[in-house]
Amino acid sequence: MNIVNLPPRPHFPPPVHVGIIMDGNGRWATARGLPRAVGHKQGAEAVRRTMEAALHLGIRYLSLFAFSSENWKRPAAEIIDLMGLLRLYLRNEVRYLCENGIRLRVIGDRARLAPDIVALIEDSERRTAGNDKLTVIIALSYGGRAEIVEAARRLAEKAATGRIDPNEIDEDSLAEHLYTADVPDPDLLIRTSGEKRISNFLIWQLAYTEFMFLDVLWPDFSRSDLEAAISEFHRRERRYGAIGV
Ligand code: IPE
Ligand code: IPE
Ligand code: MG
Repeated sequence: MNIVNLPPRPHFPPPVHVGIIMDGNGRWATARGLPRAVGHKQGAEAVRRTMEAALHLGIRYLSLFAFSSENWKRPAAEIIDLMGLLRLYLRNEVRYLCENGIRLRVIGDRARLAPDIVALIEDSERRTAGNDKLTVIIALSYGGRAEIVEAARRLAEKAATGRIDPNEIDEDSLAEHLYTADVPDPDLLIRTSGEKRISNFLIWQLAYTEFMFLDVLWPDFSRSDLEAAISEFHRRERRYGAIGV
């Protein structure tokens, strides 16, 4: 076949790292007269679909915002539902992750999570550590400002004990103290549900990320939504402060 006759590949090459703020579970359920917990359950199904789509498209890192530091302000009953779903997810999903070469990493403040959940996280991370097709990063009890504060505190400790010269602290050394030290910054960020804000997700790492705000509610998010976002991503010109071509 002549090269000009080849079908276009609007999703290729894929962005290396896609972040998603998975929002709208509650509204999805309320619109159907269902409890919010049902929306969260459907949201978990959308996570599985999205991982499959990411694998298919060749995305290397998929970061999913599952529970923010601020979500601890929600009613206790909703938090219990969410943590229950998380337990279920961690117990049942590891086999799928291993079968498909997916590595799982969880970022956020583990001190606030129940000990059995922390144990499940550690177990899932250990069992998937050798997988390298796709890394799924779940942000749980995660806040971007808290992450930066923690990095600053660790740098300050090193400076106070003479292990680092304060004059040598730069963007790279701060980034090395974030949860995402060895992960490239997101190329594309998608937020579902029509809200147009970051809500404290990866605020350092998103400095030059392309943002897409979709009206679809997270439980309805599909492979075609992801593909459409990637096509739009390819139409954008990333200039990083320089002059365009
Ligand atoms: C996102 O859906 C999931 C979490 C934040 C845990 P929401 O629960 O925020 O759903 P809405 O925004 O109320 O519709
Ligand atoms: C952001 O959604 C956090 C997650 C999707 C996990 P929220 O629903 O908590 O965000 P706000 O409160 O509308 O900013
Ligand atoms: Mg929300």
